[in-house]
Amino acid sequence: MDSGIDWHWARAALDWQLELGADEAIGEAPVDRFAVEAEAQAARAAPAAMPARRTMAPPPPVDSGPDPVAIARKAAAGAATLDELRAAMAAYDHCELKRGARQLVFSDGTPRARVMIVGEAPGRDEDLQGKPFVGRAGQLLDRMLGAVGLSRQETVYITNVLPWRPPQNRDPKPDEIAMMKPFLARHIALVDPDLLVIMGNISCDALLGRRGITRLRGKWAEAEGRPALPMFHPAYLLRQPQMKREAWADMLELAAKLKVLG
Ligand code: URA
Repeated sequence: MDSGIDWHWARAALDWQLELGADEAIGEAPVDRFAVEAEAQAARAAPAAMPARRTMAPPPPVDSGPDPVAIARKAAAGAATLDELRAAMAAYDHCELKRGARQLVFSDGTPRARVMIVGEAPGRDEDLQGKPFVGRAGQLLDRMLGAVGLSRQETVYITNVLPWRPPQNRDPKPDEIAMMKPFLARHIALVDPDLLVIMGNISCDALLGRRGITRLRGKWAEAEGRPALPMFHPAYLLRQPQMKREAWADMLELAAKLKVLG
């Protein structure tokens, strides 16, 4: 029997009650004990009912302090000259990278440049000297520029997305890029070059909102309201010299565009 109660079990139970002194049925109506037990078994087998869902009160708002991007925007907007922008960046205390760097690396080249190059972040040599692109990658960059008649002295201005060296040259974090972006945008507006050259993935991320330099390189895009040419980063070219062919094509493209613009 499914319930586990059979005639012998019921008889034994009745005998036991008689032994205890029970000599008559107490209820008026007969009780089907098999049905009662079957119901109890079904109830035991059924999954436990889900506890009623408690409605959670929304967590109290976390006060994360002032918004570093809004502060950067305000500071950058208040800079009317490159010197003021440099001072505003030096005074900006919300980027962790500042604490690990030796100094602010602001820019190099001529502020009357037609071409503004935007790199990623200072490395060791730049952190030591306080100028962008002065290490091996920078020397390669100067040779590439020279090959198409450009130079820091006369036609090119150089800066980075981040003015402080990241520890162990790690990639900058998205929030670090976001908080320094208003300064970069103001930097570009103050120099007002004809063209931007965007070197490497971090710079593409900051100025175009996209990564994937292999696909982006060599194709004109628009950033901060002017033509922008993504290119392989010279540090990448030092590691992958076979890619210099593409970089050379991009330099020729840059020179051609300058000619067209006059
Ligand atoms: N790499 C960069 O992106 N910028 C520098 O200034 C140096 C190396």
